[in-house]
Amino acid sequence: MADSTIYTLISQEDVEKRVKEIGEQISKEYEGKDLHMVGILKGSVYYMVELAKHITCPMTMDFMSVSSYENATSSSGVVRLIKDLDEPLEGRNVLVVEDIIDSGRTLSYLLELLSKRNPASLKLTTLLDKPDRRVVQGVDVDYVGFVIPDEFVIGYGLDFEQHYRNLPYIGYFKQEESGE
Ligand code: IMP
Ligand code: MG
Repeated sequence: MADSTIYTLISQEDVEKRVKEIGEQISKEYEGKDLHMVGILKGSVYYMVELAKHITCPMTMDFMSVSSYENATSSSGVVRLIKDLDEPLEGRNVLVVEDIIDSGRTLSYLLELLSKRNPASLKLTTLLDKPDRRVVQGVDVDYVGFVIPDEFVIGYGLDFEQHYRNLPYIGYFKQEESGE
């Protein structure tokens, strides 16, 4: 993808507006409760931090790391736990924060793992949803930022080979016509 241009799928303004809306919705729904946000490293970090700025109820954060992708843009189909949470979830109102749901393998694995830790409640939010790519069914996401087409996207935390996470918008690659 060295000779490809980055196109904008969702502008910085639109992402920020939607993240604010979700933050306000979550704040309302968790009013009077303590929220424990669980971010999935590394992709969700940008979304997590921006979302947290719009949360008005008391909240804490923890992070874990899982891997389902070998490297580039194709899934290995296997989800591995790389770094577990620092704190227990028992009795807490847990909100798992993901960057994107693609095959659904990561969130399905996480739901099974985290629900065994007896949280008071367990909800999911993802900034992006690519429903066309779903392999694992039955993953119910409570708050979705944007439903997107089947494109490999970068920016706002999402990477291609660890790069481009810092783009302030959601972009995608388009190969340049080589003329050959
Ligand atoms: P799933 O397990 O297939 O649902 O994949 C979830 C993970 O794959 C996400 O947390 C991302 O890290 C990665 N991923 C899936 N699609 C994309 C994409 O379009 N761009 C960058 N990363 C992606
Ligand atoms: Mg991820």
